[in-house]
Amino acid sequence: MSTKKLLILPGDGIGPEVMREVARVTAWLSRKRNIAFEIDEDLVGGASLAEYGVPIRDEVVEKARAADAVLFGSVGDPAWSHVGFDKRPEVAILKLRQELGLFANLRPAKVFDALVDASTLKSDVIKGLDIMIVRETVGGIYFGEPRGIETLPNGEKRGINTEVYTTSEIERVARVAFDLARKRNNSVCSVEKCNVMESGLLWKEVVTDLHAREYSDVKLSHMLADNCAMQLVRNPAQFDVIVTGNLFGDLLSDLASMLTGSLGMLPSATLGAVQEDGRRPALYEPIHGSAPDIAGQGIANPIAQILSFAMLLRYSFDLQAEADMIEAAVAAVLATGLRTADIMSPGLARVGTDVMGEAIVRELDKM
Ligand code: NAD
Ligand code: IPM
Ligand code: MN
Repeated sequence: MSTKKLLILPGDGIGPEVMREVARVTAWLSRKRNIAFEIDEDLVGGASLAEYGVPIRDEVVEKARAADAVLFGSVGDPAWSHVGFDKRPEVAILKLRQELGLFANLRPAKVFDALVDASTLKSDVIKGLDIMIVRETVGGIYFGEPRGIETLPNGEKRGINTEVYTTSEIERVARVAFDLARKRNNSVCSVEKCNVMESGLLWKEVVTDLHAREYSDVKLSHMLADNCAMQLVRNPAQFDVIVTGNLFGDLLSDLASMLTGSLGMLPSATLGAVQEDGRRPALYEPIHGSAPDIAGQGIANPIAQILSFAMLLRYSFDLQAEADMIEAAVAAVLATGLRTADIMSPGLARVGTDVMGEAIVRELDKM
């Protein structure tokens, strides 16, 4: 690939704050590794609503389609919490996932040694932990029809959402999970609620069939989603790859983030299907949101955003060495005892977003 086209969408709240720290890393890549990007940047979410009256412009969706990869911050702004669903900032990310067919959201929960004590769980439960949650992102109850709020004849209102999954939607995301497992510890746990939901029953059947047909070398287990939430806290090390639907994946990955010490630590990659020309649409984003409670204070943890950029280098640009270096730099900084507020432990040095970003680049400079 000659010039790499990168679209950066910082979004709202802490999104732009943590994205600024990625700019230091791209500057380092060009300075020290001679890797340049053709970078375009645009508004999404509340920032786009304020400027253009829509959460995302069609033009931005087209730019995302044309880019080799998209780096997304986070969207969401309490100022827009009372408007209709089509006008919410969150539409920006939902529309990008839909329009680009980004169906597989990879959410790795990996515990850095230096952060073992930052988790709310006991250190022997989480030390060395390395889980990959594969969350389906364009189906399920987020998008199923019918949906809406209707008024009943007696004046009461009824809110409706519908969980829908088709065979092909389940199969393609399960395939991603099995392929990943083969490169890891060769084990997949498929999570649904087949005890109460038909969509869960189909999910289990499809995963089981695919496994028997093409992936019998991979260890497969099944778990009900409520039990999985409990098992993730009781004994997370039992998991390698977890594959699950949109809503359960959203919940379980926020839960898994606390195993690593903070929601501010977890990156993600959302991948689409490989196209005829060999390109694969991909968007990278931290799993956290715009964090309105700390926005504007310069205290957000930029590591999830920086690690999302490392995933981008790894998956979209095959820059394995550079991705490894960024992850090593994060580990090195944490080992020196620098901490943003969310991962702070007694006796360590509390720093803001920018100092954390600078320190990571200083470590990169030493490599
Ligand atoms: P959130 O993830 O924004 O924040 C939850 C808690 O974690 C807050 O206390 C926050 O301060 C903390 N936190 C999150 N990221 C952090 C970081 N990098 N460093 C330090 N602390 C961090 O979730 P929320 O408060 O429920 O949602 C706020 C808004 O974000 C909502 O509008 C929601 O829809 C949106 N959201 C967007 C995305 C996205 O863009 N992909 C993801 C999740 C939530
Ligand atoms: C996430 C977020 C989104 C989701 C919201 C903002 C639409 O929570 O990316 O985890 O629910 O998918
Ligand atoms: Mn979420």
